Amino acid sequence: MSLAKGMTALSPSNRRKLLIGAAAAAGAAGLAGGLWWRHGDDRMRGEEPARAPLPVRDPAFPNALRVPGARGMYGVIDITGPLAIVAKTVHHEILPGKPVAMLGFEVEHEGNRYVNPVLRVASGAGVRADFWNALEETSIIHWHGLKVDANNDGHPHYAIPASSTYQYNYRVPNRASTYWYHPHAHGRTAAQIHQGLAGLYIVEDAEELALRKALDFELGVTDVPLVLQDKRLDETGAPYYGPEGSEWMHGYLGNGVLVNLTDRPHLDVTARVHRFRVLNASMARIYRLAFESGGRMLDFALLGGDGGLLPAARPAREAFLSPGERVDIALDFSRVGPGASVTLKSLAFDPMCGPAPAPGVGTGPDCVTPPGGRAGSRPPQAPPLADGSPIELMKLYVLAARAPVRAIPAALSPGGIPGHSGASVRRVAIDHHRMAWRINGRLFDMRGIGLTVKSGSREIWEISNPADGMPHPMHMHGFQFRVLERAGSPEQVRRLALAERGLTATDLGWKDTVLVWPGETVRIGIEFTHHYVGDQVYMFHCHNLQHADRGMMVNVRIAA
Ligand code: C2O
Ligand code: CU
Ligand code: CU
Repeated sequence: MSLAKGMTALSPSNRRKLLIGAAAAAGAAGLAGGLWWRHGDDRMRGEEPARAPLPVRDPAFPNALRVPGARGMYGVIDITGPLAIVAKTVHHEILPGKPVAMLGFEVEHEGNRYVNPVLRVASGAGVRADFWNALEETSIIHWHGLKVDANNDGHPHYAIPASSTYQYNYRVPNRASTYWYHPHAHGRTAAQIHQGLAGLYIVEDAEELALRKALDFELGVTDVPLVLQDKRLDETGAPYYGPEGSEWMHGYLGNGVLVNLTDRPHLDVTARVHRFRVLNASMARIYRLAFESGGRMLDFALLGGDGGLLPAARPAREAFLSPGERVDIALDFSRVGPGASVTLKSLAFDPMCGPAPAPGVGTGPDCVTPPGGRAGSRPPQAPPLADGSPIELMKLYVLAARAPVRAIPAALSPGGIPGHSGASVRRVAIDHHRMAWRINGRLFDMRGIGLTVKSGSREIWEISNPADGMPHPMHMHGFQFRVLERAGSPEQVRRLALAERGLTATDLGWKDTVLVWPGETVRIGIEFTHHYVGDQVYMFHCHNLQHADRGMMVNVRIAA
């Protein structure tokens, strides 16, 4: 196995530390700064750090964002040899000063201990990983987005009991992008992810290395993964998972959104282009992402999505991100200038959470379930944030840049994305019945094959969602697909459409998860081509984890 030569090893950023130190020493000088940068960003570009204004720190975001480093939580491991990944109870401070027991993927590697490591690997490289299940229940690791064979996919059918191991051995067939790994034991996926099990999986190739070189990106410094997780924390600061009643139908919402398992985080950036690889690893919450500074929304560049870079960067000002999806975003902070602060937000939207699940079980307009359990059945905790409500996710403080600002290259992936014609159409209908969401009128049957596809065939799947339903992020294992058309979209989505097929910017490029809103029919094109021998069974499911755990999944056999 050989990793691409020339991959930059992750190094702690002395530059960043220096700047943070300088900012802290100088204290708040932000008011003057705010006026100063309005004179225009061109003047700022060559400015000396010492003379640059400093941002005003917002006490509502007291915690430094956890970023991938050399070890520990989210430490980066370049996969160059066999790994042992242990799912187990770990002790961690989600809220500062409140250590709690939660779950994590622990890896010992070259003398260091990692929890939920960012696994980084070259496209085409071989991966050998032993999964050790040290939980008290069944589990399995699924590599979300990877086009591996069924034996290595981590389909719930392969879940192993407590105290046993599963061996993975595969070659990474994907192009560069941000993928992720998480448990997938049927009925327990939401609980295990909510308790902490989830990590990023970064694949790299020549296109990625070219972009990184052009924009001088460094993972953990100027290339920052943001794992968004809506969690319910109890008063001790521990994740509490206990959906009741209609929470199984609407999804279990958190009472706070953590970014990289950091509560109310801030991050210092410099006045240059930064990249954010944003993953929605929440159970049910959808975000409408935007960056705001001084009361206006900032333009950002959409570099890519689930399955890698777009042919060219696309300007955008907001993006919906549903559970399972990723967006790769670049933001040029030289345009706001040193001294500014920027808020990463989820803007308000209509969550469209559908009908009351049963007479007498009202859900209210914001989808928040009234406390359904007996008094005292849950540990004390703050009430969940309403679905679709505006949320300030993170504060970014802009410090002076040391190097000239570089522009985002026009072409990111010159190969483009092939067209999709001559395919047969398959209808996939979503509905609900007795408080459960279904695919083609059926609930998941672990051993049954719901859909059979001939290996090598091209198909268009026409996914329809009834108008009285709720949004469903539909995810395919084993393949990446393209979104071809969006019809019947609600106004808040139609506004974002780029052309007559109704696609929004985040529909472009390769996808493994697509959000289907109530009333929509979304057509996706899939080429079921791979080189694996024999039948392969994957699945297609909703990535709202309560929906998935309650059976909104279907097995898909790729017949050799
Ligand atoms: Cu991330 Cu089967 O899912
Ligand atoms: Cu997946
Ligand atoms: Cu769903």
